[in-house]
Amino acid sequence: MAMGQRVGGEMILSIESSCDDSSIAITEIATKKLLYHKKISQELEHSKYGGVVPELASRLHAIALPAILTECEPWFNSLKAIAVTNAPGLGVTLMEGVVMAKALSISLNIPILPINHLKGHIYSLFIEKEALLPLTVLLVSGGHTQLIEVTSYDTMETVATTMDDSYGESFDKVAKMLGLGYPGGPVIEKLALSGDASKFSFTVPLSQSPLIAFSYSGLKNNVRLSTLEASPEDYPNIAAAFQKTATEHLIQKLKKYFKTKPPKRFAIVGGASANLHLRGQVEQLLLAHKAQLLVAPLEYCSDNAAMIGRCALEAYDQKAFVAYRDISIQPRCKL
Ligand code: KG4
Ligand code: ZN
Repeated sequence: MAMGQRVGGEMILSIESSCDDSSIAITEIATKKLLYHKKISQELEHSKYGGVVPELASRLHAIALPAILTECEPWFNSLKAIAVTNAPGLGVTLMEGVVMAKALSISLNIPILPINHLKGHIYSLFIEKEALLPLTVLLVSGGHTQLIEVTSYDTMETVATTMDDSYGESFDKVAKMLGLGYPGGPVIEKLALSGDASKFSFTVPLSQSPLIAFSYSGLKNNVRLSTLEASPEDYPNIAAAFQKTATEHLIQKLKKYFKTKPPKRFAIVGGASANLHLRGQVEQLLLAHKAQLLVAPLEYCSDNAAMIGRCALEAYDQKAFVAYRDISIQPRCKL
């Protein structure tokens, strides 16, 4: 299709670059339909360092984002706004997306919709399904472990959070200890399938504490000490025991929380919501409450621009536009 040619109705172009995924999507406003979505992941490039190297990530975004954008040119004349993740995330990588959003805003003379990445994860549930609110949400990603009461786009209350590391991050750290590269979640989950969790015993964090909060630094150390004397044949057993304990911690705290507020509708979102052991355990817990579990399709669990575009439809309805000169990045912002 030639550049500048008009296609379809009115659309939003969304950009995600908060960590190590460069992604752009086009969402049709009237139908909420995702028309285009592409993501270039940097996992391979960061794998040898055992985690994301911010400066490298930002350089890779500067190459990948413009490459994806060229494929979106046919929609340029139909765009009504540019949505971009501006918080939270790595400062240097958020900046890559925001700079692109500013350039598009100036050249196409359309406003920007700044989008909170965590809200984006929540709206990943509604890319292919009708929105269902209110909802209790467990957000488990590389940067966050939070329990959130979601009433509406504007009303989201974090009711529990982590005191240190996040659930996904603990998988990354254990994978690093075992020399398995980055990201750790998928590789540990796979390794655990061939392991026997009863061969290692790790303490469930905060199990005696009345607090409804999460903590993974103690478990991480627990696993680290075990790996010192372990041989590679033990690694599947360590992976299985770690995954079981890390997940049991979430389940124990959810059980506690549900005593005060029984769930009606419950969702798991974020990169680590892809974990099937976690999904299975939560499903079992919800049976007792006859509550429904919502999860996003696997391709939208980890970071992507489709969820940012879906979230931006809500911001668009509220006319939450900002001019290119007024947008700022907020790396440490919460919900
Ligand atoms: O949401 P996401 O793509 O990025 C952040 O916003 O942080 O989440 C990435 C995190 C990584 O820590 C990764 O190891 C974890 O999600 N993850 C998993 C699984 N797949 C990804 N953790 C456990 N099990 C998985 N299957
Ligand atoms: Zn994320």
